Amino acid sequence: MYRADAPGRVNLIGEHTDYNEGLVLPTATPQRTVVELSPREDQVVRVESLGYMPVAYRLGEERHAGDWGDYVRGVTWVLTNAGHQIRGFDAGIASRVPPGAGLSSSAALEIALLRALRDAFSLALDDMALAYAAHKAERDLVGARVGTMDQIAAALARTGEALLIDMRKANIERVPIPESVEIIVIDSGIAHDNAKQGAYNERRAQCEAAARRLGIASLRDATLGDVERLAPQDAMLARRVRHVVSENERVRAFVAALAAGDVSRCGALVDASHASLREDFEVSIEELDVLADALRSQRGVHGARLVGAGFGGSVLALANAGCAADAARAAAERYRSRTGRTGRVVMPV
Ligand code: GLA
Repeated sequence: MYRADAPGRVNLIGEHTDYNEGLVLPTATPQRTVVELSPREDQVVRVESLGYMPVAYRLGEERHAGDWGDYVRGVTWVLTNAGHQIRGFDAGIASRVPPGAGLSSSAALEIALLRALRDAFSLALDDMALAYAAHKAERDLVGARVGTMDQIAAALARTGEALLIDMRKANIERVPIPESVEIIVIDSGIAHDNAKQGAYNERRAQCEAAARRLGIASLRDATLGDVERLAPQDAMLARRVRHVVSENERVRAFVAALAAGDVSRCGALVDASHASLREDFEVSIEELDVLADALRSQRGVHGARLVGAGFGGSVLALANAGCAADAARAAAERYRSRTGRTGRVVMPV
C-alpha cells in the first residue's frame, strides 16, 4: 500500500495572471488530500472517494466523462502517453480540501495521486514534473484551459510560506509569511464548478485576443500605455489588460510589503485586487462582494478579496495574528444575515 498527499492552494495575490505569463503568490492550505494506492497485476484502475461514484476503467481506455473521475483518468492518460510504465491499481481518496471552494481540490487530487503512482511504480519524476503532468491532464483530458499555478502550488507549496512564481521564467521563490499575519479563508458556499469553465475559458481567450491586438506575445508585456491605446477601440479588452498589468504590479508590491511586515499595505493591495477582479476582469458575483465587505469590517482585518477563478468559491482576508478566528466567525455570521447563505470557515482551522 502506497500513501501520498498534497494540499489545496490559496493564492494570496496575482489572480488570472498565470496564463498571461505573469506573477502569482499561492500558499498551501492546511487541508490536504490523501491517496492510498495498491498496485494490481492487470490494467484495471478502481478509485473510490467517500460520497462520490466510484471510478473504474482500463488503462488505455481513458475518455473524458465530465465527472470527477476525469482527474484520475487524466493522470493515468498523461503518464502512459509519456511512456511511463504503470499498471492498474486500486486507490482510495480522502480529501479535506473542500471541493468547489476555489481552493483547487482538483490539483490536490492530481498531485497526491501522481505522488502515490510515482512511489508505487518508481517513476523518475520530480515534483515540478508532476505539476506539469497534472496540468496536462487537466487541460487536455478534463478540458479546462487553466494556467499552471494550481498544480505547481499543490506540488511545491508549504503552509507558512508563499511561492512567488514568475510564470514567464518558470522561476520560483519561497516567501515566508510573517507570524504577525493570519490568513482567513471563507467558502461562500457557491460552487466554483465546471459549469463556470466557459466563463474562465472566455476570459483567457479575451486576454489572448488583447495580446494579439497589441502585437505582443502575452499580456506580461502589456503596459498602462497599451490600456490607453486600446480603450477607444475596445473598452472591454482594455479593462482586461488593465487588470493583468495592475495585478502583476500588486504582486510585486505585496511581496515587498510582506517582507517589511507591513500588513496594512498588504491588505490595501488585496482590496485593490478584488476591485480590479470585480470591475476590470468582471469575475466577481454579489455574494463574494458581500463576504469580502463582511470581512473588511471586522477588527484586525486588513483586506479581503475573492480567491481563485471567481464566480463563486472563497474569499481570502489578511488579519493581525490572534484576530482571525473571531473575525472569520463574525464575518460568516454577517454574510448569513445578508445573503441567507452559509459561509464555511476554511482557515484558520
Ligand atoms: C484557476 C486556474 C488557475 C488560475 C486561477 C485564476 O484556479 O486553475 O490556473 O488561472 O483560476 O488566477
